[in-house]
Amino acid sequence: METLWLPVGLGEKDKQSIQTAAAALCTGGVVAIPTETVYGLAANALDEKAVMRIFEAKGRPQDNPLIVHIPEPEDIDKLCEPVPDIARRLALRFWPGPLTMVLKARELIPKVVTAGLDTVAIRCPSHPVALAILREAGVPLAAPSANRSGAPSPTEASHVKADMQGRIDAIVAAGTCSVGVESTVVDLTGDVPRLLRPGGITREQLLTVLDKLEEPGFDETSAPPAPGMKYRHYAPETPLLLLHGSLSQRVVYLRSVSVPYGVLCYEGEQEAFGDVPVVVLAPKDNGELAAKRLFSSLRKLDALRVDTLYAPFPDSIGLWHTVRNRLLKAASGQVIDL
Ligand code: TXA
Ligand code: MG
Repeated sequence: METLWLPVGLGEKDKQSIQTAAAALCTGGVVAIPTETVYGLAANALDEKAVMRIFEAKGRPQDNPLIVHIPEPEDIDKLCEPVPDIARRLALRFWPGPLTMVLKARELIPKVVTAGLDTVAIRCPSHPVALAILREAGVPLAAPSANRSGAPSPTEASHVKADMQGRIDAIVAAGTCSVGVESTVVDLTGDVPRLLRPGGITREQLLTVLDKLEEPGFDETSAPPAPGMKYRHYAPETPLLLLHGSLSQRVVYLRSVSVPYGVLCYEGEQEAFGDVPVVVLAPKDNGELAAKRLFSSLRKLDALRVDTLYAPFPDSIGLWHTVRNRLLKAASGQVIDL
């Protein structure tokens, strides 16, 4: 299949790109679109066949449900019922933006979107191009991250191209995603809101609106709170290990490694690793920048073509909590305590 490249942000052709993308989406197409978090692989959420094509293109297991994107917060009532008061308060504070709410689904949402659950995940994104496409298409869009299943999420159009060229109808290319990690997923169907996936909205921010927030942990023996949490995710092809310790502890530990390896480090640390290839994530006190650069850093590490990758095990304050969550998934939970 030929994949159309539709650039946006250059002025003149923007409108045309958005119209072409929307037309493809209205006729059962699968189109990668930019959002403020990561690029999404979109299809008409009400068109079962189109949604099936997302799963095929990604190689995604069918039991992992998708997020439905809407252009106006009010559209939530068309897709969900009941909508509890707390959902409206969260929407008022965080939409449009990187928050996804899980609510009871109305009948019109195809089961392929929800993986057979009676709930649906809903988000109103803030990226102007995502909003323009949603409005032009006039249908809600189901969209997971636009990477091959298991790979790091795409935060640049070139990442989407690397994973999806020839597998989808079009890629709307609009530069780098500003948040860089996926939306925060909160389940509002129970008595107490549950954080299913940390993301672009921090726990601290959520707690300015919520009185309580449960954080269900899970291990191999218990059922995962969100179906997607059971899969290895965000992972570079090269095995990744996390090192829990200071810079000097990490440097000393790595001296004993005999295979070619690459390192992810904080800004200002690069010289300590000598000739070892490093990718700099961000200053230790800048979780926002770390989030923004995380997935492209993982792709850069993969391109080093070494045998093993090492990354620091970060703090869990603010967006570092999300970065830590993604690194843990990418490393299949392997942390070496130094
Ligand atoms: O920022 C984002 O959320 C991006 C952009 C494109 O919007 N999308 C994204 O989608 O990250 P995806 O499919 O990669 O992740 C969706 C997550 C998965 O962990 C999935 O299991 C969970 O949301 N999810 C979806 N529907 C759910 C439901 N009804 N109940 C519980 N979890 C659900
Ligand atoms: Mg994903």
